[in-house]
Amino acid sequence: MSENPSTPTIAEAIAILQGGGLLAIPTETVYGLAADAYNADAVARIFALKGRPADHPLIVHVADAEDIAAWADAVPDAAYQLAAQFWPGPLTLILKKRAEVPDAVTGGQDTVGLRSPDHPLTLALLRAFGGGLAAPSANRFGRISPTSAAHVRDEFGDAAPPILDGGPCSVGIESTIVDLSQNPPRILREGHIRREQLLPFLPYVQSGIGSASPRVSGNLDAHYAPRTPMRMLERERLIAAATHEMRCVLLALDALPAGTQGLSLPARPEAYAHGLYAALRQLDSRDAAHILIEQPPSGPDWLAVNDRIKRALAGAGI
Ligand code: TXA
Ligand code: MG
Repeated sequence: MSENPSTPTIAEAIAILQGGGLLAIPTETVYGLAADAYNADAVARIFALKGRPADHPLIVHVADAEDIAAWADAVPDAAYQLAAQFWPGPLTLILKKRAEVPDAVTGGQDTVGLRSPDHPLTLALLRAFGGGLAAPSANRFGRISPTSAAHVRDEFGDAAPPILDGGPCSVGIESTIVDLSQNPPRILREGHIRREQLLPFLPYVQSGIGSASPRVSGNLDAHYAPRTPMRMLERERLIAAATHEMRCVLLALDALPAGTQGLSLPARPEAYAHGLYAALRQLDSRDAAHILIEQPPSGPDWLAVNDRIKRALAGAGI
């Protein structure tokens, strides 16, 4: 056993996966709920624990770009170029799947999502395991993604799987997803890697969900949501509302206004993204009547943050 009995060693983690069990894994974006992607029963356990509809596909996590050919067919050169540039890292590539990839992973679609996560523990695990790990974010369906091992424990309580504790996630929001199976390619989910970083490799890349796009559960209107009702206001109105409303907590930019309760996050997009989910979880635990969130700036650098906040607002209080 490892020193912390709740944290398996790599060898124990591999035994769990080979036995068809679930394992929570750290990545640079958020914690994942992992199973052997080739074990359909194990993958079914992920859906059951999350309460996720079976037709929502999972990302397969791989050690590096050399694994792409084991999962995907008709791979365009751009996929290898993007993997060379951004892997390991917060970029998921949607590609035509090989026939052998189980439907349980792809939700019955003819594509598969692949990503190599930038976390030393999980990369060591993937290298030793040899296969691919299907892993959605380790939260109940529609709820806030976990950015620490403690969040995963809070999320699932007694039902929590063993957690490979890799510390807090550095990026803090989920990977950018780019669909290379469509022509032109399309960004299905905004993330840390921005459109302008993809343009040298994908000059025609589109943004947003097109009519021909597959279902992407992260693109449901309500997602990443606290249970406390939540509203977004710009700072003046936020301060006014905070002085009138009982039992509200604020998520402010840079500094919490005097006399208010809540948290603040830095007004820099990467630092804000890093702290967003932990802040929402903390505020959600305070038993407030409302969470009032200060409207972040707009513009390309803030796209991913604004996307997550919009979906959290749509699902909050449900
Ligand atoms: O950063 C991340 O991507 C994290 C970590 C754990 O890697 N994972 C994550 O997984 O966010 P999940 O399942 O919570 O979100 C993955 C998204 C879902 O919206 C899913 O629909 C989409 O990726 N997806 C997966 N495979 C797909 C496919 N073949 N076609 C279209 N969308 C796909
Ligand atoms: Mg998720």
